[in-house]
Amino acid sequence: MAKLQGKARTAYVCGECGAEHNKWQGQCGECGAWNSLSEIVLETAAAAASPAARRSSWAGKVDAPKVTALKDVRHSEEARVSTGIGEFDRVLGGGLVEGAVVLVGGDPGIGKSTLLLQALAQMAPTLPGLYVTGEESLGQVAGRAARLGLPLDGLNALAETGVERILEHASQWQPKLIVADSVQTLWTESLTAAPGSVSQVRESAARLVRYAKETGAAVFLVGHVTKEGGIAGPRVLEHMVDAVLYFEGDSGSRFRVLRAFKNRFGAVNELGVFAMGDKGLREVPNPSAIFLSGGSAQQPGSCVMVTREGTRPLLVEVQALVDSSPLSNPRRVAVGLEQNRLAMLLAVLHRHGGVVVSDQDVFVNVVGGIRVQETAADLPVLVAVLSSLRDRPLPDKTIAFGEIGLSGEIRPVPNGEERLKEAATHGFKRAIVPKANAPKAGSYKGMEVVAVERLSDALIAAE
Ligand code: TYD
Ligand code: MG
Repeated sequence: MAKLQGKARTAYVCGECGAEHNKWQGQCGECGAWNSLSEIVLETAAAAASPAARRSSWAGKVDAPKVTALKDVRHSEEARVSTGIGEFDRVLGGGLVEGAVVLVGGDPGIGKSTLLLQALAQMAPTLPGLYVTGEESLGQVAGRAARLGLPLDGLNALAETGVERILEHASQWQPKLIVADSVQTLWTESLTAAPGSVSQVRESAARLVRYAKETGAAVFLVGHVTKEGGIAGPRVLEHMVDAVLYFEGDSGSRFRVLRAFKNRFGAVNELGVFAMGDKGLREVPNPSAIFLSGGSAQQPGSCVMVTREGTRPLLVEVQALVDSSPLSNPRRVAVGLEQNRLAMLLAVLHRHGGVVVSDQDVFVNVVGGIRVQETAADLPVLVAVLSSLRDRPLPDKTIAFGEIGLSGEIRPVPNGEERLKEAATHGFKRAIVPKANAPKAGSYKGMEVVAVERLSDALIAAE
C-alpha cells in the first residue's frame, strides 16, 4: 500500500484566498495576506480517500475549514424518493435520500443486479438513472430488462469500468441516480494497481462518493461478497458509504432478505423480504411465516422462534442435528447464526443443564438462508439441540424465544408481547419464553405460555 501511494506531494495554500504555492512564503503572492499559508498534502491517488485530502477540492484548492454554530446550519428534512418497491424503501429507511451512497452486497447470483435494475426502472420517471455495467454487456442488461417487462423511459446504460469515463458521462447526462455494477470491476487511471485490487476498488468508490456528495446524485454500489462474508476487498468501503445493505438467502429457496447493516438514514437490521420469480424480485410485504419449513409433522431437532429483526416479527425455524462424533474435536457448525454463540450455548448447556454434548457433532441451521443476529435465538437453539439429542420432537405448534446468560439464567428480550401475538396469530399453541416476557395469566390469546427463568426450567419445558 505504502508503495502505491508514492511520495506525497505537498503544497502551501493561502487560508485567505485559497491560492496554491509550491513553497512556503510569508506573504501570499495572490492576495497579499501575511502569514496565511499552510501546508497541505495534495491528493495523491491512493490518498484521495483520506479525510485530509478530501478537504481539497478536485482542483487541489482548499476550502478553508470554517467553524459554524450548529444551530445556524441550515438543514432540511432529507427528501426521500420511493424506489417503487416497498420492501426496498423499508430497508433504506423510508426511501432513497438525495446524494446517498448505498453499498449493496451479496453472493453472486443472489439478485443484486435484478433488484437494482427493477428499482432504477421504477424510479426513472422521477430520478433519471444511469446503469453502469462492468460485468454484463449492454445487450444482456437490455435483455433482462425486457424479460422483466420493465419500463425503460429515462433509463440510460453504460458498459464501462473506467471511473474517469463514467464520471465524464455522468457530468454530461446528469443522472440523479447511478448504479455501479459491480464496484469490483471499477478502476481509475490514477493508480497502477490491477483492477479488482483493494486500492482500485476503494479509490474508484471514493471518486463516486465524492461525485454523489458534490452533485446530489444518489449512487448504488454493487459488491460481491467473498466466502469469508466480507464484501470482497472493499470491506473498506463500508465506512465511506451512507448505507450498507446485504442480500441474504438460500440458493435453493426463492426467498431473499435484504438487510440494512449500516444506515445513516434509517434503522439498522431492518429487513426487506423478496421472492425471486420469473418476473424478477417480487416483494413479500407480509413475510411472517415464509421461513417455516412447512413440513406436516413436527420433527426432532426443530424449533420455531419469533425473531424481531428490524421493526417486525418474523417466524423462523431453527434446526439442529446432534450426532455422535468420530472426531476427537467434535464439530460445531452454525449456519445463519454466530458460531461462537453456539459454542457458548453448548457450554452453558453442559455447565448449568448437565447435558453433555462434548462427544457429539452439533450442526445448527436457520431455515431459508437468513441470518438471525439477535440473542432471542439462544433458547430456541438449545431447545432444538435438546430435541435432536433426545430424538424427540417438540409438542406440535410450539415456539420459543429468549436470551441465555452465562450463569444459566433466561433473560427477557425486547418486544415480548409482539412476538407472542405473532405466534398466536399464526396458530401456535404453546410458547416457551423468559419469565419476564410472559403474561401473568400463563396464556396469551388461547396460547399456553410456559415461563422459564433458568435453563433447568427450559429443559423440562422442552420435554
Ligand atoms: P442477478 O441479479 O444477476 O444476481 P447478482 O447480480 O446478485 O449476481 O440474479 C441472477 C439470478 O436470479 C440468476 O440465478 C437467475 C435468477 N433470476 C430469476 O430467477 N428470475 C429473473 O427474472 C431474473 C432476472 C433472474
Ligand atoms: Mg450482477
